[in-house]
Amino acid sequence: MKRLALVLGAILAITFVAGAPAQSPIIIKFSHVVSPDAPKGKASLLFKQLAEKYTNGKVTVEVYPNSSLYKDKEELEALQLGSVQLLAPSISKFGPLGVKEFDVFDLPYLMSDDAHARQMLASPIMADFNQKLEAKGVTPLAYWDNGTYVYTANKQLIMPEDFRGMKMRIQGSKVLDAAARQLGAIPQIIAFGELYQALQTGVVDGEDNVPSNILTQKFYDVQKYLTVSNHGRLTYSLLTNTKFWNSLPPDVREPLDRAVKESTQFFNDTAAKDNVDALDRIKATGKVEFHVQTEAEKKAWIAALMPVHKEMEARFGKDFIEKIYKASGFVPPQS
Ligand code: LMR
Repeated sequence: MKRLALVLGAILAITFVAGAPAQSPIIIKFSHVVSPDAPKGKASLLFKQLAEKYTNGKVTVEVYPNSSLYKDKEELEALQLGSVQLLAPSISKFGPLGVKEFDVFDLPYLMSDDAHARQMLASPIMADFNQKLEAKGVTPLAYWDNGTYVYTANKQLIMPEDFRGMKMRIQGSKVLDAAARQLGAIPQIIAFGELYQALQTGVVDGEDNVPSNILTQKFYDVQKYLTVSNHGRLTYSLLTNTKFWNSLPPDVREPLDRAVKESTQFFNDTAAKDNVDALDRIKATGKVEFHVQTEAEKKAWIAALMPVHKEMEARFGKDFIEKIYKASGFVPPQS
């Protein structure tokens, strides 16, 4: 009798284990707006590979490039709602979240210098910026530096006067809006996913971006001129939904933190090189006329754009702007 009970017990145990559903992986949807070949696209794929490897398959990362899931504004809302778990948007797009402070990084020339940008992102002040995002339910896991902007347009942009009356695409930042107006241009916010068509159909005449985006989105097909101006910088924040991230068990969270760290290192090592290569490759298409600013032209641009810093004191407060100058090591250039 005892023996029969043992055998029955063993059969039951085997049936239970065999029939138990394997624990399904945690899905992380990572949505972004650029091409898989752009630095952010490459880093998102590396993150997927590392996250799945380091968690031994407890996590599956689904990467959605090229705005295939959400466009600029929608993706931030989707993250807050928990419909996606990771994004890496430009920090010039946080206005719709109700976080206006990040726009300060778009003050012309503030972040032109690599050393100033690095110093800023490593500054303890970034903790205050991070708190503003946390208050909106999103946590910045890292910052990814994609280098400085060039302008592209359907007309040569050599002197500040050349912007007069031009319809220029901007990201959502109020500082970018003020800078375009300062030059006499007409700024228009357009989602990155709609930019190629907007340039092609003449909804806008030009835009500023990093070379790797211009290459991988083929903007060179619809823009005749490029000016190497380095007037601003594209920085991303790798963002997650705070509730989601905090709910992860330590045996998942720790390997994911490691994957974030290594993907960040990869991004920052790759982007600068990719942007240099991209300029060469755009040139090699023969479709775009390049202009590299002379010192005199650069001075004229600085003189035209620096008043934006003064104008923005009304938005951010003079003290806050000075705090940012100090944190980044930026010294306003003399015009
Ligand atoms: C843009 O909108 O031009 C960029 O922020 C796109 C991106 O994510 O690189």
